[in-house]
Amino acid sequence: MADSRLLAAVLLVAVVGFPAAEALGVNWGTMASHQLPPSTVVRMLQDNGIKKVKLFDADSGPLEALAGTGIEVMVAIPNVMLDMMTDYDTAREWVHKNVSAYSFDGGVNIKYVAVGNEPFLSSLNGTFLNVTFPALQNIQRALNDAGLGDTIKATVPLNADVYESPKDTPVPSAGRFRAEINGLMTEIVQFLNQSGAPFTVNIYPYLSLYGNDDFPLDFAFFDGTTSPVVDTATGISYTNVFDANFDTLVSALAAAGVGGLPVVVGEVGWPTDGDKHATAAYAQRFYAGLLKKLAANAGTPLRANQYVEVYLFSLIDEDVKSIAPGNFERHWGMTRYDGQPKYYMDLSGQGRNTALAGARGVEYLPREWCVLNTNSPPNNMTMLGDNIGYACTYADCTSLSYGSTCNGMDAAGNASYAFNAYYQVFDHDEEACGFEGLAVRTRLDPSTGTCNFTIQLETTSAAGPSSPPATATAVLFSVLAAMAVTLI
Ligand SMILES: *[C@@H]1O[C@H](CO)[C@@H](O)[C@H](O)[C@H]1NC(C)=O
Ligand SMILES: *[C@@H]1O[C@H](CO)[C@@H](O)[C@H](O)[C@H]1NC(C)=O
Ligand SMILES: *[C@@H]1O[C@H](CO)[C@@H](O)[C@H](O)[C@H]1NC(C)=O
Ligand SMILES: *[C@@H]1O[C@H](CO)[C@@H](O)[C@H](O)[C@H]1NC(C)=O
Ligand SMILES: *[C@@H]1O[C@H](CO)[C@@H](O)[C@H](O)[C@H]1NC(C)=O
Ligand SMILES: *[C@@H]1O[C@H](CO)[C@@H](O)[C@H](O)[C@H]1NC(C)=O
Ligand SMILES: *[C@@H]1O[C@H](CO)[C@@H](O)[C@H](O)[C@H]1NC(C)=O
Repeated sequence: MADSRLLAAVLLVAVVGFPAAEALGVNWGTMASHQLPPSTVVRMLQDNGIKKVKLFDADSGPLEALAGTGIEVMVAIPNVMLDMMTDYDTAREWVHKNVSAYSFDGGVNIKYVAVGNEPFLSSLNGTFLNVTFPALQNIQRALNDAGLGDTIKATVPLNADVYESPKDTPVPSAGRFRAEINGLMTEIVQFLNQSGAPFTVNIYPYLSLYGNDDFPLDFAFFDGTTSPVVDTATGISYTNVFDANFDTLVSALAAAGVGGLPVVVGEVGWPTDGDKHATAAYAQRFYAGLLKKLAANAGTPLRANQYVEVYLFSLIDEDVKSIAPGNFERHWGMTRYDGQPKYYMDLSGQGRNTALAGARGVEYLPREWCVLNTNSPPNNMTMLGDNIGYACTYADCTSLSYGSTCNGMDAAGNASYAFNAYYQVFDHDEEACGFEGLAVRTRLDPSTGTCNFTIQLETTSAAGPSSPPATATAVLFSVLAAMAVTLI
């Protein structure tokens, strides 16, 4: 609380229209239990002078809100739909419904179609290896057939794990596509080259640091390092992992015969909670360095002094993202779930103590929380653990984890946090503050210095869940039933 008040007190209103902001894009994800209205988000983009946005689908809500704004848009086809797109007629239908429909004067300024999202991620075990390239070809062909191919390009946002340097030559100039997908990647990049589309890559310096205590902390940022990586083949000294990673890709592209292929950074950013390195202070430091570098059009050593098209990840926190990658996954937003900035961030790259312009006119549920009833009978207290676990199955408790803003509370604090998170997700439904008599509603804000017990957004749409599941037992039963089906 104290921090946020201080921040709010010294925040300057963001200045609109700096060149760096015009060149910047942001990712707008919608995996949240409660979403800001699309028109509110679009106004926030405009208030910050942001002229490019990347989406993860082609939902009509955001697209209609973007119509007439001139903001450049990357729409997307989710991985689960790639298989369907291997059929040309289906691809044509998709382009017709989700691209052509918005391509009119005063419509949406669609510039790219993202075919899949990191479909070759190692952890996906090759699920989308066979379908991605045919889908890419079909979508570009459908765009061409619709007469849109000159201005709208199909690309595939890929995680940086599609390329690497050999263990014995760990330098950018030795970059190659991962051996088992090298043939496929070569075909894809040559196709992108032919169609005039860029290569889209997601680069995450934060993930280099996450769970890797040997990684030099300062190499993840842009303000110098005590341990540069010297590329013995080129003589280049790399002082940050972003440049090293980007140039590893540039080398892989050259090895595949398309050394000049334009590269778009589809995602880059820093999370603020859920891990010891996911903090607002580190995020602020990371963006300060990145934005300064982008504003200067510094490029990277192998592509010096070039403008790099970048989409920051991400605009808003998303509380229902999968936490399979880690507890930080729901905290990538430059703004909180309610579109309010978390730290200083000067999009113009001049390093001033300004913040993003927050979402305007945000509507919250009433100021009421659900916490542990400390007067519960001792017998019932023994059921605390189960009830916390139950609450956290449906609500976001990642801020309780080690290294996070709400870590270090006692068991009662944990319970209150979990109960409140659940109560908020279910829109203050009376039944959502039950927990076998362990919970009670309160008007007293239970937040502490670092830990925010949030009040959720008032949503009129179907964005949030409507009513809580009946009981923990019912849920447990359905989980067991699902397991039984798997076993059979
Ligand atoms: C906590 O959330 C409320 C809105 O629910 C917000 O007004 C307040 O600034 C937040 N505090 C922190 C520390 O983020
Ligand atoms: C896109 O087009 C398909 C029809 O091919 C349609 O089923 C789908 O709902 C549309 N919207 C999105 C978000 O994909
Ligand atoms: C990939 O394989 C691993 C190990 O077999 C498994 O744990 C994981 O669930 C698989 N992931 C997917 C997306 O299939
Ligand atoms: C991809 O195609 C190959 C060759 O037809 C086949 O062996 C493999 O099982 C397919 N993989 C998937 C994930 O469908
Ligand atoms: C494809 O790459 C070649 C060789 O780098 C280049 O000459 C050509 O202009 C590229 N094609 C397009 C459409 O950019
Ligand atoms: C509170 O919850 C966190 C996250 O689950 C856990 O690590 C911690 O041990 C809990 N604290 C107590 C006192 O139970
Ligand atoms: C304690 O738990 C029992 C069993 O769930 C419940 O019936 C009872 O109402 C609870 N007691 C109080 C005082 O909430």
